[in-house]
Amino acid sequence: MVTAQRKIPIAAPLTGQEEWEALKEPVFSGWLTQGPKVAEFERLFAERHGVKHAIAVSNCTAALHLALLAIGVREGDEVIVPAFTWVATANSVLYCNATLVFADIDISTFNINPDEIAKKITKKTKAIIPVHLFGLCADIEAIKKIAPGIPIVEDGACAAGAALNNKPAGSLGDIGCFSFHPRKSITTGEGGMITTNNDKYADTINKLRNHGASISEESRHHGPKPYILPAFDMVGYNYRMTDLQGAVGIVQLKKLDRFIEERQKFAEIYTGELPSVPWLSVPSVPSGYRHGWQSYVCMVDETKSPKSRNEIMEFLEQKGISTRPGTHAVHMLGYYAGKYKLKPLDFPNSFKANEYSIALPLHNNMVHEDFKHVAQSLIKLV
Ligand SMILES: Cc1ncc(COP(=O)(O)O)c(C=O)c1O
Repeated sequence: MVTAQRKIPIAAPLTGQEEWEALKEPVFSGWLTQGPKVAEFERLFAERHGVKHAIAVSNCTAALHLALLAIGVREGDEVIVPAFTWVATANSVLYCNATLVFADIDISTFNINPDEIAKKITKKTKAIIPVHLFGLCADIEAIKKIAPGIPIVEDGACAAGAALNNKPAGSLGDIGCFSFHPRKSITTGEGGMITTNNDKYADTINKLRNHGASISEESRHHGPKPYILPAFDMVGYNYRMTDLQGAVGIVQLKKLDRFIEERQKFAEIYTGELPSVPWLSVPSVPSGYRHGWQSYVCMVDETKSPKSRNEIMEFLEQKGISTRPGTHAVHMLGYYAGKYKLKPLDFPNSFKANEYSIALPLHNNMVHEDFKHVAQSLIKLV
């Protein structure tokens, strides 16, 4: 357990005895690749997120790639993504040889601004990837109104268990993609999940994650006709999740709502204390949203703060408190800036978020005193 005197990491997964016990079954059964544990994890995830299909994959980047392929994104197509997101969102578009089209964010939510999407839609727009950044759902309802008929892939990497107007993330658009990296609320080490209500997308994704095979290894193994080989009518990938990860995922998923409720209470400690810091703005949660609190991200107003954002981060680090920038503005990263000839201020809010955002530690391995310690360190900073 982390105490105020010890170092507080930016994130720390909460795994232990139950996850350890869950690993025994696949380890002793010898079924380690995608099998019954992955199938059960998928069933439970689909149930929890209110969708017909959940398909487990090796990570969220793979999930995004397969989601775009299922929609039919290819060379010549355009895909709109927020400029402020983790680089994986953008890379999934480039894996399909399609053209990345960035749109700026709303600085109050860090999520893609539907009005900015409207300016970027062309006849070539094949899909939109709104990101539920830091666990807050993007405004999918507004995006659907602005872009009727254009498929929406939710990048819900950070948003397992989050919701908009009581509809779970992953059920809001056409396809949802989730990450189980240890910085997320629930983890399987590496891992990802794809959700959809569309049977055709689900069928294609199912095949694409397993080399394009028409039937899974498990069904082949248990079938009565050992000579049957799968049909391969498409070029697929090995993006499978292992049953070891599936077993851990089942245990973690059962804790998801408890984790989020606890994170909500922790976020309230920060949101109660930090408004007394005049140069820091705390995250806002519009009404109707259930935040997943993957991260608690504030903005530093350097015109009022005694130190720059980076100096504040260094100061906190010296006190044993780990922080990070929220994420990065992808249009400012070398490869993307060069490829599309972009300048930092082409997307002013993403630029601002890149320069002045600060993620404070918030995870289920922290205790009440840790939050008080972080808040007091900021309040006393002069
Ligand atoms: C917004 C977003 N999209 C995609 C990803 C990629 O997830 P993974 O590491 O599971 O591939 C991440 C990971 O941090 C993310 O934050």
